[in-house]
Amino acid sequence: MRMYDIILKKRNGGTLTEEEIRQLVEGYTKGSIPDYQMSAFLMAVYFQGMTDEETAILTDAMAHSGDMMDLSEIPGVKVDKHSTGGVGDKTTLIVAPIVAACGCHVAKMSGRGLGHTGGTVDKMESIPGMRTSLTREEFLRTAREAGLSVTGQSGNLTPADKKIYALRDVTGTVESIPLIASSIMSKKLAAGSDCILLDVKTGSGAFMKTVEDSIKLAEKMVAIGTRNGRKTAALITNMDIPLGSQIGNSLEVEEAVRTLNGEGPADLTEVCLSLATEMLFLAGKGTREACRKMAEEAVSSKEALKRLAAMVKYQGGDEECIFHPEKLGKAPIKADIEAPCDGYITNMNTEGIGISAMMLGAGRETKESELDYLAGILLKKKTGDPIKKGETIAQLLTSEEWRVSGARARFLESITVAQEKPKEEQLVYARVTEEGVTLL
Ligand code: URA
Repeated sequence: MRMYDIILKKRNGGTLTEEEIRQLVEGYTKGSIPDYQMSAFLMAVYFQGMTDEETAILTDAMAHSGDMMDLSEIPGVKVDKHSTGGVGDKTTLIVAPIVAACGCHVAKMSGRGLGHTGGTVDKMESIPGMRTSLTREEFLRTAREAGLSVTGQSGNLTPADKKIYALRDVTGTVESIPLIASSIMSKKLAAGSDCILLDVKTGSGAFMKTVEDSIKLAEKMVAIGTRNGRKTAALITNMDIPLGSQIGNSLEVEEAVRTLNGEGPADLTEVCLSLATEMLFLAGKGTREACRKMAEEAVSSKEALKRLAAMVKYQGGDEECIFHPEKLGKAPIKADIEAPCDGYITNMNTEGIGISAMMLGAGRETKESELDYLAGILLKKKTGDPIKKGETIAQLLTSEEWRVSGARARFLESITVAQEKPKEEQLVYARVTEEGVTLL
């Protein structure tokens, strides 16, 4: 079938055949289908959706668009995690070292920032010398010897997702359950781990805005993973408020290090321990209670911190930045944001806060934008905190003065202040496994 007819069929709400889906993934990856036709197809999927069968075939076609990683050279159980993306989400840099310190191996492929959300690869590249484009041998050796390795989508793994992901980022087609499920699960299947934990973010800073949609996305991904023989589960976690207090690439590395030193913000620490517990549980390390204790001990003994430093060193980065994160540097321009009145912060539009950080240089506005690794936001107050008119509620950091005024306006637009203290935010809403959904 011609690409034009495939677009029309999906636009009109039809169900594509396996042959049509495989043809379009192969054609776009090879370059015979142009960006403009793929963009139209993605927009048709955004509005019309895909059946479970179509999503499973799309995932399989994307996973097999390049090499499938064989992790059998790494001993023991290999556990992977993936977040659907959020603001201030530096959990991989904390959770992967914890799980590695508990005797599992994490060989993980991560992405760059997408839309208003940050990406682990960008955060890691803020460490001087750190390489995120590894050969297969370097990736396996780092995972074997440091216990963890995080690489970008390097080599020839899921080239279809690499192209489609970049196109979705600039065509308004990110927030689609079948497109997110196939993007994430194609990478997870190709990356070869035995166990997969999905961190499905929900709320104003996530691609899924409601717990119901997040559960639907989680159920689809868990079903795809399980059908492919991987132990797969998901936690639905809060992204209605930025995670932790620091947003921006080197700022997030610094906060991850602080958390691995046992001095991180309470929300970030709790979400990371919950994720690590679930990964250890999937890997068969014991009951959830025993796994939680193991994760806490990996932090208090500093074993997890040492694992992060070891990975940084193996991947060419300056490990001193992990033991002395002040070496990452500070942005030269700092601008305080003051509370407009007395009251409580009752809401943070977390997408707006993410866009404010992007406007400071922490994220990309176009595919070609260069990042300012030192740029970002330090949050002094968050949802639920009382504030006094004129006190500093956040600090904007950047290397270019002209960026401050737009970012400040966007930040202020994104917070709501009122007189009533809001109810406390729940951090983890639900667990989704092949057995079903457990509300927490
Ligand atoms: N993360 C991914 O890897 N893909 C998406 O589509 C969204 C978040």
